[in-house]
Amino acid sequence: MISQKEYTKRRKKFAKKLEDNSVAVLYSAKYKTRSNDTEYPFRQESNFYYLSGFREDNAALVFVKSKGSAKTILFVQKKDETLELWSGKRVGEIQAKTIFDVDEVYTSDMFEQKILELLKGKNMLYFDFASKDERINNLKDKAKAIVSHKDIMSLIGYMRLIKSPSEIMMIQDALEITKKAHHEVMKLKKTGKKEYELQAEIEYIFKKNGAYSDAYTSIVACANAANTLHYIENVASLVEGELILIDAGCELEYYASDITRTIPVNGKFSQAQKELYEMVLDVECEVIKMVKPGVKRSALQAKAVKLLCKGMLKLGILKGSLENNIKKEKYKKYYPHGIGHWMGLDVHDQCPYKYENGDEIPLMSGMVLTIEPGIYIDKDDKKVPKKYRGIGIRIEDDILVTKDGHQNLSQGIVKSVKEIQRLKLSNNS
Ligand code: GLY
Ligand code: MN
Ligand code: MN
Repeated sequence: MISQKEYTKRRKKFAKKLEDNSVAVLYSAKYKTRSNDTEYPFRQESNFYYLSGFREDNAALVFVKSKGSAKTILFVQKKDETLELWSGKRVGEIQAKTIFDVDEVYTSDMFEQKILELLKGKNMLYFDFASKDERINNLKDKAKAIVSHKDIMSLIGYMRLIKSPSEIMMIQDALEITKKAHHEVMKLKKTGKKEYELQAEIEYIFKKNGAYSDAYTSIVACANAANTLHYIENVASLVEGELILIDAGCELEYYASDITRTIPVNGKFSQAQKELYEMVLDVECEVIKMVKPGVKRSALQAKAVKLLCKGMLKLGILKGSLENNIKKEKYKKYYPHGIGHWMGLDVHDQCPYKYENGDEIPLMSGMVLTIEPGIYIDKDDKKVPKKYRGIGIRIEDDILVTKDGHQNLSQGIVKSVKEIQRLKLSNNS
């Protein structure tokens, strides 16, 4: 768990970055309609959560900075017996003041009036430029006198890039659960089952172990379906002799995990599958080895491209010279995505990749990123040796950058051909 002390520390750090005579506003998430009057499960907005730890909707966090010091104000929903009977208990303003170490707490129905008072005489308004929330336009209308606006993300994004020890522990805990889920499906008898049955097993294990949700919609893609990068239908049958690409990770207490394993339906890799799989695995291990402070993500991508091209040339998937394949981006047909992304409160953590001057941000101790090379060969691609057609492979781990190098936080999730086959054999049911 993240302590209230840590949220206070984050707010102090954030407030320090604000200009004098400014107001910063962060809104909670809103319920989203699924259909008619049913809603998707509520998930708090990550930046609001990062600075508040508050999990209810219809809330806002406001910073008022003047004369070098900052005041923090939380707006929360009013207690309401009838509404709470239908939608669950609310913390309410009195308890919120005790739990959350902010300077002032008001009920959300006071926001419109209060914000006008708070904005008076201020020069700068900070909010989330990327937000599509209509409350932002409303706020901008109210703050018409303030001509300068700044994006909150340029401040929080940098903070979120470097994970604290407790955030790293949360990610590790999430990965422990994700490990159980991946190992369990490796062991299962799968032939004849549907992809969604594996998805159900995985998500059952997430929930059973305390992870309320997945961090993103699980991908369970058998055979050629693995070549659709965002395949989430998960409706096909698991066919004997084919591979299944499983990209699934739980979210625990708001922290993500993001793991892909590609495993044989019957527990044993064919020779062709093994050749492709071990090529991708070698690339993944080589790129992970490079992770250390100072290295740039673009260097990791370049290494992945070079090694994948070499591998594809060796297997006869690409033809010609290494230089030409790289220069002409011939590999993109088979490896179209990036080597990885920041991960934390969001699976694709909303943190910058570049400084404001456009320079790339190098890896630093405390960052968490995925490394996820892949190769995707369509079943109808006549340019590729027949034995490789219809195979899609991705291997993805979550890596912490440490002072001296890195720690593979998902090291315990098996991935060698031998280990995957052995795990299946250990439970031959
Ligand atoms: N699961 C999403 C991704 O790997 O980026
Ligand atoms: Mn990923
Ligand atoms: Mn993934």
